[in-house]
Amino acid sequence: MIARYLTIAGVLILVAAIGFSACFDPREGYAPEQPFEFSHELHAGVNEIPCGYCHTEPGAGPVSSVPDVDTCMNCHATVATDSEQIQELTSHYEEGRPVEWVKVHDQPDHVQFSHQPHIQRGIDCVECHGQVNRMDVVEVTNEFNMGWCVDCHRDPEHNAPIDCVTCHY
Ligand code: HEC
Ligand code: HEC
Ligand code: HEC
Ligand code: HEC
Ligand code: HEC
Repeated sequence: MIARYLTIAGVLILVAAIGFSACFDPREGYAPEQPFEFSHELHAGVNEIPCGYCHTEPGAGPVSSVPDVDTCMNCHATVATDSEQIQELTSHYEEGRPVEWVKVHDQPDHVQFSHQPHIQRGIDCVECHGQVNRMDVVEVTNEFNMGWCVDCHRDPEHNAPIDCVTCHY
């Protein structure tokens, strides 16, 4: 009996939580200020540096990390060295101080997401992240909520699993 009430209460909490997260979606349009000016438009757009040069193999594992200062210095040891910005970057490098980039896309801990299955199925970065190569400041361009994930999984073109344990631990 008690177990049954607990189950019902659990379901109600789930429903309320889904409703809550649907109403107050903090993601789309989120574009936090970064501690250091970095333009994707200049790098990935104008200079056509491939995404994978800095975001090493986002399909190879669950994490698509943001590059460290060493990666920047591959070029900036020689490129634009008279710029004040690059001099500051170089001091980070020389003092071994990482740049503390602010996370833009951030799923709650109970959500399981990996780039791997998506990239394996040929879904382009643009489909989820928008035209990053035209952004001076990275901005979230989709809802990144549960409805958004499930809508695409349900789409017959993709036909990906939609049972709860696919995405929740
Ligand atoms: C020269 C290196 C470089 C290249 C090339 C590059 N990025 Fe980035 N990317 C960064 C850095 C540094 C950050 C962290 C700072 C920021 O958010 O702007 C970042 C952040 C991001 C983020 C946000 C990460 C988060 O916290 O959620 C996304 C998404 C992203 N990049 C996608 C792309 C895509 C797609 C491309 C190709 C069109 C690309 N990047 C090319 C360096 C690069
Ligand atoms: C593959 C080469 C390459 C990498 C890697 C790279 N950059 Fe650049 N960066 C460039 C080029 C090319 C320019 C344009 C230089 C110019 O127009 O004079 C540039 C310009 C810049 C500028 C503007 C400089 C100015 O004042 O005009 C900043 C800031 C910058 N990069 C930061 C970064 C950071 C931070 C990273 C690492 C996350 C990074 N870059 C990684 C090639 C690179
Ligand atoms: C199916 C949608 C989808 C595709 C396709 C996709 N991403 Fe992501 N990306 C996400 C989600 C969701 C997150 C947030 C993950 C988290 O917070 O745990 C994310 C986070 C990131 C981050 C932040 C660092 C991290 O891993 O948390 C970077 C950088 C990134 N993506 C780059 C890329 C690049 C580059 C591509 C193309 C090669 C790409 N993404 C393709 C959905 C996608
Ligand atoms: C643009 C379409 C699209 C979006 C958006 C999308 N997915 Fe997917 N997802 C797929 C496809 C396609 C697969 C691969 C299915 C397969 O290979 O069977 C997949 C696979 C997965 C898998 C692996 C499933 C398995 O067991 O094989 C997980 C986990 C996952 N997605 C979570 C998410 C989460 C969480 C989000 C939202 C943050 C999301 N996805 C957004 C299309 C999408
Ligand atoms: C394709 C991936 C996917 C599937 C399948 C999925 N979810 Fe989710 N779910 C998410 C994502 C992503 C979030 C985070 C949304 C947000 O924070 O806006 C979420 C959030 C939630 C939340 C809200 C928690 C909070 O932080 O507000 C609950 C409750 C939930 N899911 C339950 C379920 C149940 C029950 C099922 C099965 C019927 C399910 N989910 C299936 C991706 C998925």
